[in-house]
Amino acid sequence: MASLTVGLLAAAAAVAGVAVLAHRANMGAFIPPPMHGKTVLITGGTTGLGLESAKRLAKAGAKVIITARSDTKGQTAVQDIQDYCTGTDDGTVDVSYQILELDQLESTKAAAEWQIPTKIDVLMLNAGIMAPAKLQMSHLGVEQQMHTNHLGHFVLTASLLPFLNENARIVVVSSLAHTFPSYTGGLKLDQAWKPEPYIPVRSYGYSKLANVYFASQLNARSSYTAVSLHPGTVATDLARQITSYKPLQNFFSKTLVPISTSLGLLLTPAQGANTQVYLASTTDNLVGGGYYTGMKLQTLGGFATDPALGELLWKQSEEISGVKFQFDTAGAAKEAEAKATEATTAEEATDTKAATEEEATEATTTEEATEAATEEKEAAATTEAATTTEEATEATTAEEEATEETSTEEAAAAEE
Ligand SMILES: NC(=O)c1ccc[n+]([C@@H]2O[C@H](COP(=O)([O-])OP(=O)(O)OC[C@H]3O[C@@H](n4cnc5c(N)ncnc54)[C@H](OP(=O)(O)O)[C@@H]3O)[C@@H](O)[C@H]2O)c1
Repeated sequence: MASLTVGLLAAAAAVAGVAVLAHRANMGAFIPPPMHGKTVLITGGTTGLGLESAKRLAKAGAKVIITARSDTKGQTAVQDIQDYCTGTDDGTVDVSYQILELDQLESTKAAAEWQIPTKIDVLMLNAGIMAPAKLQMSHLGVEQQMHTNHLGHFVLTASLLPFLNENARIVVVSSLAHTFPSYTGGLKLDQAWKPEPYIPVRSYGYSKLANVYFASQLNARSSYTAVSLHPGTVATDLARQITSYKPLQNFFSKTLVPISTSLGLLLTPAQGANTQVYLASTTDNLVGGGYYTGMKLQTLGGFATDPALGELLWKQSEEISGVKFQFDTAGAAKEAEAKATEATTAEEATDTKAATEEEATEATTTEEATEAATEEKEAAATTEAATTTEEATEATTAEEEATEETSTEEAAAAEE
């Protein structure tokens, strides 16, 4: 009897597995709504998810600026995007590149001098590296993944503030790997900046959890809507640094990744870019500070939502880089007022509005205005939360399924 039960369970699991793989294999590319008149800036737009996002958003009519690490890579990617958009309805494709090295402080600060003729509506912080085999420290004495994936984007965003539309969306590409630190005591900032010992995947997890915290902090402190996401496990070259042994690298990129993709074990870049393309383009209201997967809001664990830890990460990022965010006072106060007008349904929101409007009027310093915007945003989020119960339930179910499916080690292996 016991063996029959085990047999039935195994058969059910196999059928479910095949169904999941078949679903993945059939998953299409999300087509963004028209983006004419919008400007999108994407870091790491030369390959993988960034390049795919740039193609889809440019084809939808957005003016797209990608970042590249060399002119050759930038020019090749721009050509690639233009070719992809051939036959676009009105024939206009507006795509260009800027040079950016996220692990070089001067390069990220130099973004303030970029010639960008229009305000940026969507800033997609996508570039990243994963689990270099050997510990590398940046010139600021920061572990390379933490610098590239988090600190570089932190400084870049601060440098780009004058270019950002006051209602800009900031889409931060994190990962399911943000959960790794939850198994080893959460985000230990000393270990994140300077790991000892160095465990490649653990450091990757720290940098991706920092992405989640950066999005929620930025959302709370500014007039922007900032969100983070996990794209899925996608067949890109992200794992290129996990070994320095060339034959193994070739085996991964030329054999393992293509086979896994054809079996439906990995998403194609076209499928994997869906969530970030959706977040960059949708006319749906996004939940600021939220974390999305599969184009749906997910529930973050407590280890990823501790405001004190988020504030500490922000403070230390400013101290290490020497760069402080200077939010535009007028923009923050104006946003507070606009959000207050929208928030007419919730009593709590109305109360907060009165207090916030008063504060916004009085706010003469940058910090005061930013605080006012933050309070108002929380009020608006309360209203929004009340109307998204169904989505939240779906998200919780999806998160539970994901948790059941994937243990830490499995996730690390899958990401690798
Ligand atoms: N693929 C997945 O399964 C997966 C899963 C979860 C999360 N993610 C996240 O998705 C994002 C995109 O990854 P991907 O899979 O598309 O990887 P990818 O194909 O390796 O693309 C990474 C991009 O980042 C750029 N980049 C790397 N280091 C940089 C630096 N120091 N300064 C500026 N740009 C730099 C790369 O430029 P070069 O080509 O010049 O190196 C490349 O354009 C990453 O943040 C990653 O953590 C991916």
